[in-house]
Amino acid sequence: MLEKDIEKVLVSENEIKEIIHRLSTEIMQDYHDKFPLFVGLLKGCVPFMSDLLKELDMHLEVAFMNVSSYHGGIESTGDVKIDMDLGTPVKGRHVLLTEDIVDTGRTINAVVDLLKYRGALSVNVVTLVDKPEGRIIDFVPRYVGIEIPKVFVVGYGLDYEERYRNLPYVGVLKPEVYSKE
Ligand code: XMP
Ligand code: MG
Repeated sequence: MLEKDIEKVLVSENEIKEIIHRLSTEIMQDYHDKFPLFVGLLKGCVPFMSDLLKELDMHLEVAFMNVSSYHGGIESTGDVKIDMDLGTPVKGRHVLLTEDIVDTGRTINAVVDLLKYRGALSVNVVTLVDKPEGRIIDFVPRYVGIEIPKVFVVGYGLDYEERYRNLPYVGVLKPEVYSKE
C-alpha cells in the first residue's frame, strides 16, 4: 500500500545491496584492526546500519544518538538539537558516524565537532545518500553510498513526517502526498 504514494524509485533494493557490499569492503580494509565505534544517528540510520553491520566481518562496537535538525516537514530549520546522547564514551576511539542522508551538512558537521571535542581519535562518516547540491557547510563524508540531486526522498530509514521509513528502497513521494493536509 505504501508503493502507491511513490512517484519514482531513486535507489532500488538491488542497488542498496550493491552499495552495502562496496562500502563494507572499503570499511573493512580501513578499520579491521581499529575496533571502531559505529555511532548510528537515529532514527534514519536503522535499516542502513543494520544491513551494513551484518556485512562487516570484524570487531566493532555499536552506539546510538538522536539528533534533529528537521522538525517534521521537508525544510531544514538549521538548528541541531541532541534529543538522546551516546551511552558510550568516545574518548580514544575511532568513530564511524552512520547516517541515512547528508544534505546541508549542518547536522553531521555539528556531531563530528562534538565527538572530536569529546576526544575521539578519529571521526568519519558513512552515509547511504548524499545530496551535495544541498550543502550549506563544506562537508565531505568519507564513505558515500550514492549521490542524488536535491530532491526530498523517503524510504529505507528516511521519513516524511515519520512515515515511509519502512520502505525497502529510497524514492520520491508523489506531490499530492504533501498537499493532503
Ligand atoms: P542536514 O541538512 O543537516 O540534514 O545535512 C540531514 C538530516 O536532514 C534530514 N533530511 C532528509 N530527510 N528526506 C528525509 O527524509 C530527505 O530528502 C532529507 N534530506 C535531509 C535527515 O533527517 C538527515 O539526518
Ligand atoms: Mg528525518
